[in-house]
Amino acid sequence: SKITLTVIKADVGGFVGHTDVHPELLEIAKKHLKEKGKMLIDFHVTRVGDDIELIMTHREGVDSEKVHKLAWDVFWICSEKAKELKLYGAGQDLLKDSFSGNIKGLGPGVAEMEFEERKSEPVIIFMADKTEPGAWNLPLYKMFADPFNTVGLVIDPNMHQGFKFEVYDMIGHKKIIFETPEDIYDMLVFIGATGRHSIRKVYTKNNEIAAVSSTQRMNFMAGKYIGKDDPVLIVRCQNGLPAIGEALEPFANSYLVTGWMRGSHNGPMIPVSLEDAVPTRFDGPPRVCALGFQLAEGKLIGPQDFFKDVAFDNAREKALEMADYIRKMGPFEPHRLPLEELEYTTLPHVVEKLQGRWKEE
Ligand code: 13P
Ligand code: 13P
Ligand code: MG
Ligand code: MG
Ligand code: MG
Repeated sequence: SKITLTVIKADVGGFVGHTDVHPELLEIAKKHLKEKGKMLIDFHVTRVGDDIELIMTHREGVDSEKVHKLAWDVFWICSEKAKELKLYGAGQDLLKDSFSGNIKGLGPGVAEMEFEERKSEPVIIFMADKTEPGAWNLPLYKMFADPFNTVGLVIDPNMHQGFKFEVYDMIGHKKIIFETPEDIYDMLVFIGATGRHSIRKVYTKNNEIAAVSSTQRMNFMAGKYIGKDDPVLIVRCQNGLPAIGEALEPFANSYLVTGWMRGSHNGPMIPVSLEDAVPTRFDGPPRVCALGFQLAEGKLIGPQDFFKDVAFDNAREKALEMADYIRKMGPFEPHRLPLEELEYTTLPHVVEKLQGRWKEE
């Protein structure tokens, strides 16, 4: 029967500020999943920056009320501890007081996929902090549609026909399927606008699921600034899908994403090991981690912390140079986001305050 791989994440309080998760919270999360997660085949609890990441396997399918409730309960009890320790922004990503059937729309980020486990099933869980779901658009495009990144598109007969991308409009609340390579120019019109459109899923042309991201924009849901939706992404690899090294290759060059300080700046994404996923400089720069697992009847064999590799050192160094460069712009665009993008921060209150002082001319 089919396996479901579910990743659910939330920030329920930072230690210290927005930089990390307190170790006690991770212990509570592990203990709860061990005791109450009878429906799980396996799980792995980790953190990237101030976000707790629950990686779970089971046979309950996607959108399982049982699994979502379990994750909600974990975050809820962790937030109780966060309040006790007076961690920063305790309960930050829990927008509702109670669980109602599905964790989507309640604040935490979710990426999950159901599939028939192959003879060998290598997967990568990408997890980012201080950025938003649109940050996956560029690397997903490269992994699944760019032959200069993924040579399998050229030389693997099982990849040569291309892929299908499901793109979600997070403001218009609608979706579209693009077929690649046929539609790449059309698709780039939309996925290049990362604040609005996000690649939610990638399928093979035979409708086999290949990648799923977390796509909700919490700050739109909350109506006020409550942090960024530090996103997660699941990618299946090898055998008609990108090789592990093809899925990691887009991160060998840093690129600019939205997030960083107060979720209001553009800055470089840095690929880092879990150990280095503690964003401090100007609350960043944004980080991405990649954990690899081999699935064995749903068991998570791993993890392999891919960005530990010295081969990503140049990307890190370039990212730090980019950070120095763009930080010098201070509160000026394009380092700071344009006014329209700051609509969900506290900035509108400043604008409102000055209303009477603007004179028509
Ligand atoms: P190995 O010979 O190390 O198994 O590498 C095979 C491969 O295809 C790497 O992408
Ligand atoms: P987080 O979404 O990671 O909590 O970041 C919030 C923030 O404002 C950082 O400056
Ligand atoms: Mg935080
Ligand atoms: Mg965070
Ligand atoms: Mg956040």
